[in-house]
Amino acid sequence: MGSCFSARIKAESLSSNGVKTKYAGRGGNDRSGSSSRVSSSTVPSTPRTQGEILQSSNLKSFSFNELKAATRNFRPDSVLGEGGFGCVFKGWIDEHSLAAAKPGTGIVIAVKRLSQESFQGHQEWLTEINYLGQLYHPNLVKLIGYCLEDDHRLLVYEFMPKGSLENHLFRRASYFQPLSWNLRMKVAHGAAEGLAYLHSDEAKVIYRDFKASNILLDSSYGAKLSDFGLAKDGPTGSKSHVSTRVMGTYGYAAPEYMATGHLTARSDVYSFGVVLLEMMSGRRAIDKNRPAKEQNLVEWARPYLSSKRRIFQVMDARIQGQYSSSDALKAANLAIQCLSTEPRYRPSMKEVVKALEQLRTSSSSDGSRGSRGENLQRVHRSSSNGRTYHRKNEVSSRKPASYAGPYVSPLRA
Ligand SMILES: Nc1ncnc2c1ncn2[C@@H]1O[C@H](COP(=O)(O)OP(=O)(O)OP(=O)(O)O)[C@@H](O)[C@H]1O
Ligand SMILES: [Mg+2]
Repeated sequence: MGSCFSARIKAESLSSNGVKTKYAGRGGNDRSGSSSRVSSSTVPSTPRTQGEILQSSNLKSFSFNELKAATRNFRPDSVLGEGGFGCVFKGWIDEHSLAAAKPGTGIVIAVKRLSQESFQGHQEWLTEINYLGQLYHPNLVKLIGYCLEDDHRLLVYEFMPKGSLENHLFRRASYFQPLSWNLRMKVAHGAAEGLAYLHSDEAKVIYRDFKASNILLDSSYGAKLSDFGLAKDGPTGSKSHVSTRVMGTYGYAAPEYMATGHLTARSDVYSFGVVLLEMMSGRRAIDKNRPAKEQNLVEWARPYLSSKRRIFQVMDARIQGQYSSSDALKAANLAIQCLSTEPRYRPSMKEVVKALEQLRTSSSSDGSRGSRGENLQRVHRSSSNGRTYHRKNEVSSRKPASYAGPYVSPLRA
């Protein structure tokens, strides 16, 4: 966590992920605060300036000192996690005035602070504000405000008490009880609703970074998508796709997008299939600590997914007996469809939501819990991979996040 507290340098600039507005013009990258814009074949015609983005959102503009006070000077023991952007701190603000409050009073917030080593930088900070400042949905994390002062860039979110899905699936600490099958399906459903909203005509956004660490959980395991730094406007008019440089996370990004840079909503559907498989198996999308043939989850699992007899070799041994084989096969079938190599064979997120609704209904009515003892293969988990990469064929080299959030104790119950 040392990198959270070291001196900061100017963040590396990134290019061409379009900045969106739902209401006015679209696209464009204004990194400087002036009206200069980066032109690119993919950037739509009327980009908004940074000033326009910041002014038009209903977000609070915090001073650096306010956030310093709210997080008790960014105390190391208030670090909730660390991502490519920097560290995320727990803090407190007054519910009404939004001014810094004493710990334990007012509302809890999560403050993301851009670090000097960040690959993500100012552009993603701005893209996040542009999208989350305008999109509201129960399955999207709420952005409360931001700070832009000298070279400080921070984002202030609602606090998600149970942290990320990644922590629940892959952390080995004893306080992380394995998520039950029903909770996994609840999380899958909530996250699918979030993506379906993004893809709807109302929002028309491609998320581009769907993965377990970007799914945050509220106190009752309601799922909310976070991190919109890579989001893009969907194609408009007769266009079938958006052309971009390849950004996202190895193991989650759709193969056609990796190969061509052609981005569609169906690229998100592929990533959803990967996360569904992670939930079913308790294995990471990419795990370098496994034998060569098992390192890529999708490649390894594919042959097992359509076989009633072999599907149990994929399933997480820790939740053995919590689902029927028919539910496992239904989930596997959905994953197969989402992971179709051919994007047009993937379902829409609306269809995925429906399928998960049916699966959850059948899971709760078939009384399958504790019933099966099929020959499950024990799964060995290992250290973290799956960090967002921000330049073609590059993976950020930062350390995996270690979650120090207080949501751990309720899990013991
Ligand atoms: N609003 C929040 N409430 C509670 N915890 C949070 C919140 N936002 C982030 N976190 C915690 O901080 C960690 C780091 O988040 P961050 O989004 O910076 O990185 P990441 O998603 O892990 O990785 P990447 O930068 O590659 O997307 C998360 O995994 C989560 O545990
Ligand atoms: Mg994240």
